[in-house]
Amino acid sequence: MRPVVAANWKMNHGPAAAREFGEALAVRGAPDGVEVVVFPPALSLPEFARHKPTWIAAGVQSVGVEVAGAHTGENSAAMAREAGATWALVGHSERRTALFHGGYSFQRRMEVALDAGLTVVYCCGEREHQRESGETEEVLRKQLEPVRKLSGEEPSSPGSRVLVAYEPVWAIGSGHPATPSDAAMGANICRRVLGDDVRVLYGGSVNADNLRSFLGEGEVDGVLVGGASLTLDGLMALIRAAA
Ligand code: PGA
Repeated sequence: MRPVVAANWKMNHGPAAAREFGEALAVRGAPDGVEVVVFPPALSLPEFARHKPTWIAAGVQSVGVEVAGAHTGENSAAMAREAGATWALVGHSERRTALFHGGYSFQRRMEVALDAGLTVVYCCGEREHQRESGETEEVLRKQLEPVRKLSGEEPSSPGSRVLVAYEPVWAIGSGHPATPSDAAMGANICRRVLGDDVRVLYGGSVNADNLRSFLGEGEVDGVLVGGASLTLDGLMALIRAAA
């Protein structure tokens, strides 16, 4: 399987900037052996998707629990698909904490995303105090429940459209990544819960210099990157490091 480089732009790059980014990527060569997906803000997704090269996929950072209806401010998975997304993030810690989304709704969000034809990256990860008190495994097991309960989708089967991103909350945006062995340990817990062949990404302060160390442990199938993916040179350096 090709390693995955997933770029989470969070609330950065409006439509004009996303369009320029897509156009600039289109004049760069397609990298060998890496699967690349960029998650722009929903408002910028159509512009990015229209102008990006075909070797890069576009994704939506969150999807609502329904595909249409009275859900002010939510993104519809089906509309994201129509706007050019083929991937969706579900359960990012910044959404868990800001919006208090519960487990059931994450299951539902994954199901509507899968129904809309999107590949899902489901994020999980412990907070610092949970790690310090030895609760990492318990927290991850609980967070992974919605994935375990998905009906009709076996994350560990070949070609599954559900991947997991292990993102310890204390490592996100902090400049203090987990060690490669901690990342491997998190990936291992995900595999114990979901099956040996589930694809697991690591996220949390990944950059082009440390990326290889995470893939090197052999447990991590790719990376989910925020800050270091925001510039064209930054993203290309990540892709080269993963190749
Ligand atoms: P970071 O973000 O690479 O800036 O730590 C990762 C993420 O939140 O997905």
